[in-house]
Amino acid sequence: MDWGPTTLTVCGLGTAALATSLVTLRRRLDLSQAKHVSLAGHARIARRLAALVPFYDYDDERFFRCDGAPDDVVIRRRAGFAWLSALYRSRFAETVRRTREASSSISDLQFTAAYRVPFQFSRMVREHLPVGAFLQSSEAVTVTDLDGNRFYDLTGAYGVNVFGYEFYKGAIERGAARAAQLGPVLGPYHPIIIDNVERLKAISGLDEVSFHMSGTEAVMQAVRLARYHTRRSHVVVFCGAYHGWWGDVQPGIGNPLPAQATYTLRDMSEDSLRVLRTRRDIACVLVNPLQALHPNAPAPSDSSLVDSARTAHFDKAAYTEWLKQLRQVCSQQGIALIFDEVFLGFRLAERGAQEYFGIRADLVTYGKTLGGGLPIGVVCGRSDLMKRYRDDRPADVCFARGTFNSHPYVMTAMNELLRHLESAQTRSLYRDLDALWDTRAQQINQRLQQAALPLRIANMSSIWTVCYTQPARYNWLLQYYMRAEGIALSWVGTGRLIFSLDYSDTDFAAVADRFVAAATAMQRDGWWWHNPKMTNKSIKRAIFTEMIARRVFARSHPH
Ligand SMILES: Cc1ncc(COP(=O)(O)O)c(C=O)c1O
Repeated sequence: MDWGPTTLTVCGLGTAALATSLVTLRRRLDLSQAKHVSLAGHARIARRLAALVPFYDYDDERFFRCDGAPDDVVIRRRAGFAWLSALYRSRFAETVRRTREASSSISDLQFTAAYRVPFQFSRMVREHLPVGAFLQSSEAVTVTDLDGNRFYDLTGAYGVNVFGYEFYKGAIERGAARAAQLGPVLGPYHPIIIDNVERLKAISGLDEVSFHMSGTEAVMQAVRLARYHTRRSHVVVFCGAYHGWWGDVQPGIGNPLPAQATYTLRDMSEDSLRVLRTRRDIACVLVNPLQALHPNAPAPSDSSLVDSARTAHFDKAAYTEWLKQLRQVCSQQGIALIFDEVFLGFRLAERGAQEYFGIRADLVTYGKTLGGGLPIGVVCGRSDLMKRYRDDRPADVCFARGTFNSHPYVMTAMNELLRHLESAQTRSLYRDLDALWDTRAQQINQRLQQAALPLRIANMSSIWTVCYTQPARYNWLLQYYMRAEGIALSWVGTGRLIFSLDYSDTDFAAVADRFVAAATAMQRDGWWWHNPKMTNKSIKRAIFTEMIARRVFARSHPH
């Protein structure tokens, strides 16, 4: 064989190409190994499968007997449902009437009403257990609807309500008075912004601050900055984590387009650390610390409560250890670590999740409660990451503006919240906060156990989720029994119960009584009748079979 220079060059290039492909293949393998096994971990597949799920719903017979319950149980269920329906119709009449009137014109109302429970049950539930969308007033830990019914509030205003509605009413009122002289002048700042910035820097331990209008926008800006400064394209989110509704951080179901520059990795996994160590295209890692309550699972919602597979458990030490490892890898690889504290900031500790877990991030996003009751998104970051232009490349900028950023009324309400954080009263509130809420959760769990009720609370401080302990198909109904007992829930139902920190022991005892009463009524009405042959797997299999049958039927009967 002639080993001339051309042959050697070709061989050399071939070897280099092979080596490159092997490295690329290795990285691809690493990436797929770092995906969580669930559909939430496989965003593209999930989106494709979601598009195939056909609509069907249960008729009257199946609605009450989809788990194969015997006649006597079905009779109890029917009686319970009729009782609940009559109660809803009379007690919430005016609130529901106004909701029905408004519904055809408010898209959000139609969406939330359709997705309170698994879709197979949704039509019957909407017809017979209509949930009102209006409230008249709030007072301390309660809210009152248009019919004058008072509920203990566990909606937490999507997490905004950390310190109690009375605090936010006061913050908005006092803030508005301080902003009134300037009014809604935008562009130039109200001087209070200087104090806000100093306080936010002290809280975050970071150098600079930017103001936005929502948590979603704050996350968009943090990711954009990370991409700009690292000159890398990809963002890492962890499986199931919510970071607002911007496309790049919502890679799965819900986003009509695939998120091309997003890696969805497994939370708390060495495989994910390997991906971070080996890929060169990762600009930032986003962490929503709320995932510590249910790593790798999406935010729990009763619309997906088809069985009892929902699990949650908060292990602070394990999650702290994970965050430490993440911090280390991000520092080594020049990846920006972004803490998304939009939901949890100031609920766990005075200085947020960074303080609570003892980890420093490069960028932190805040929102929700920080606006003192008004809309807000904030990014705090290291100055080298926050800069929006390059001194040596004047045309290469990272643009971020927004008409309502730094609105005077929001800034003054925010100042009320920031000063409230530093008060002696708030500081004492944070002391032993976890112990207080853990004890309260244990108390309820003991009562549930004593009453042999098949459900338990899992909590991360004052954020709770209800888990169900035996395979069942009607768990989603508990939210309706809870409303009947005077507990207000958000549209995700028992997936997320959010307590404000002004719940006294007496308030809490009232909620505990009502919660146990709701579960007892549900038990009495036969919804937790237990078929010993039924498992969570067999439930899922049965639903899958229904879907296939529905698709086949739709094909053979197109009209
Ligand atoms: C962790 C997290 N990030 C971002 C957002 C989005 O915030 P917003 O709804 O204000 O846009 C949310 C909202 O729930 C959130 O929980």
